Amino acid sequence: MKNYLDDTKSIPERVEDALSRMTVEEKVGMIHAQSKFSSAGVPRLGIPEIWTSDGPHGVRPEVLWDEWSQAGWTNDSCFAFPALTCLAASWDKNLSLLYGISLGEEARYRNKNVLLGPGVNIYRTPLNGRNFEYMGEDPYLSSKMVVPYIKGVQSNGVAACVKHFALNNQEVDRDKVNVNVDDRTLYEIYLPAFKAAVMEGGTWAIMGSYNLYKNEQCCHNQYLLNDILRKEWGFEGVVISDWGGAHNTLQSITNGLDMEFGTWAPGMAWGKTNNYDNYYLAKPYLAMIKSGEAGTKELDEKVRRILRLEFLTAMAKNKPFGAMVSEDHIAAGHKIATDGIVLLQNKYNVLPIDLSKAKKIAVIGENAVKMMTVGGGSSSLKAKYEISPLDGLKKRAGTQTEIVYARGYVGDASSTADGYSTGQDLKETRSADELLTEAVNLAKGADYVIFVGGLNKSEHQDSEGADRLGLELPYNQDKLISELAKVNKNLVVVNISGNAVAMPWVNEVPAIIQGWFLGSEAGNAIAAVLAGDVNPSGKLPFTFPVKLNDNGAHALGEYPGSNGQVTYNEGIFVGYRWTDKQKIKPLFSFGHGLSYTTFEYGKVTADKKEMNDADKITFTVTIKNTGTREGSEIVQLYISDLKSSLPRPVKELKGFEKVNLKAGEEKVVSITVDKAALSFFDADKHNWVAEAGDFEALIGASSADVRSKVGFKLK
Ligand code: GLC
Repeated sequence: MKNYLDDTKSIPERVEDALSRMTVEEKVGMIHAQSKFSSAGVPRLGIPEIWTSDGPHGVRPEVLWDEWSQAGWTNDSCFAFPALTCLAASWDKNLSLLYGISLGEEARYRNKNVLLGPGVNIYRTPLNGRNFEYMGEDPYLSSKMVVPYIKGVQSNGVAACVKHFALNNQEVDRDKVNVNVDDRTLYEIYLPAFKAAVMEGGTWAIMGSYNLYKNEQCCHNQYLLNDILRKEWGFEGVVISDWGGAHNTLQSITNGLDMEFGTWAPGMAWGKTNNYDNYYLAKPYLAMIKSGEAGTKELDEKVRRILRLEFLTAMAKNKPFGAMVSEDHIAAGHKIATDGIVLLQNKYNVLPIDLSKAKKIAVIGENAVKMMTVGGGSSSLKAKYEISPLDGLKKRAGTQTEIVYARGYVGDASSTADGYSTGQDLKETRSADELLTEAVNLAKGADYVIFVGGLNKSEHQDSEGADRLGLELPYNQDKLISELAKVNKNLVVVNISGNAVAMPWVNEVPAIIQGWFLGSEAGNAIAAVLAGDVNPSGKLPFTFPVKLNDNGAHALGEYPGSNGQVTYNEGIFVGYRWTDKQKIKPLFSFGHGLSYTTFEYGKVTADKKEMNDADKITFTVTIKNTGTREGSEIVQLYISDLKSSLPRPVKELKGFEKVNLKAGEEKVVSITVDKAALSFFDADKHNWVAEAGDFEALIGASSADVRSKVGFKLK
């Protein structure tokens, strides 16, 4: 009886039965890639191959067996979901579940067993090229938002593969930089989202990162993979290397790597094609076993985890069938986009635009037309469609308002990635001055000007493989924005980016929207918010510093490091933790986001004055919509430890609730925490510690906008 095929048997039973039938060659065949995105099964036993695919916000188009270039399939155009900074900015756990379910359905329909996402690396510097793929600067927000996404993806019988574990917070020298960080910072800032992914999200896979920690590659790292991931967190899933992230056979055997993926040659070297048998965990490992230099204990452990993954995914009989670009996915993508958009500034209520009154709107900027789903590295997509901001506005305005357009500047005129082209022809022959003059003249005669600029997915912008070169907007956009502000007071700037940018013109521009990379529904979502069909409710998942040195990593000078070393001197003081400590006023703070209505907060109360270790404590506050239209507000709870034996941040996010209120409606919001919310990580004790003493709970509309606070004691 082939028990491994009997899904009435328990997974451990099926694993042991399958393992006992496999030869050592078949076992070694399972632990490394056979093609760009797949690993071998066991044909003789009817155990399927494992097929993986990028990425965090859409299923990547098929590539050739052993090439990054497109395979040219005609059935692999996906729905492009908003990038994860947008999801994080929604602060909506239900939306995160919807996101995971929807994206998991797309991956399932494409018969993928592992989705290579989500990414939850913490936003240490605004220059990191891949911040757009992640969930911001705060470990608590990232932890809460990653869990539902994983559950959603995996409800389809597709494994999430949380990445990049760990400390991959820059692209500069990403595959050779050794990150030096103290234990407390590691545990308080850089691990929590991964820990939540494993212990609450139950992720079935995790991806090791390219960089080193304690001078060991993170893809085969005793500390991260064996000591923390498996021993401390009890992870039973599979560790997959980043592509080319394994560099050593012996360490790959003993330091926790289960599946070695890569490209062209083992490690990051570029060798001949179809070199998979020469991967570190392929022939070299088999040779060590045959020679007696290595046993098969670790091999069996790796294969047990992979067989578990098989039974959860490829061999799970009753999994759903998925769907691609369904109405549900379109609606989900649209909702995530509109609810992640952040209204940063809205002086004299320029927004929303009443399209029944606006006769002429001038739309300026390359990002009003440039497709953003292509490019940016491994998260690049072949979207079934992508509505540009200009098209979205034209569609929404209909015939009642004239929409005119000028490019204003030239940014990235290319439109291809991995051989796939958006089909846009963005070539430009006019000079920068001609473009600026045309835009300013167009703006003069319009009722409103909507500037759509920001970054894009090209190198040194929001893209994998390289970091940005500065905080400033590229392509001389600042000058253009200032010139537009001089000729039209109804100027709205829509910043399309996955990163903070400097805004020297912030006091010249009445309205500013953070637009994110919004995917297929981008233009429709932006138009819905600008026209007021949707009341924006997003809040920033990371700080916008005024200048680069207002960020801890840059102020203390360890970015991007040198000679293969980078030291996180700022320690736990990342993001608002740094600006609070240094009393720096950010341009826009973590948790900031406005609405077209107004909210009034009552006085927060606690259900007890004193709590002991085993207690929970509940904070309650009323919130009222004092404006004229329905809206949602994200009530944030920060905890402040008034006296501690170690330096602590002024406050830390430990709770949030998104509430929807009709005009005039009032609700009571309660947030309950336990001593974990009061604790810091004591590296000497190697444990979390909550010290008795005085604390404060602060209720805020952002990290810089505390509306009320209440003191309490931990006995
Ligand atoms: C890339 C990325 C990783 C991606 C993988 C496969 O280098 O670092 O996020 O999933 O390789 O494309």
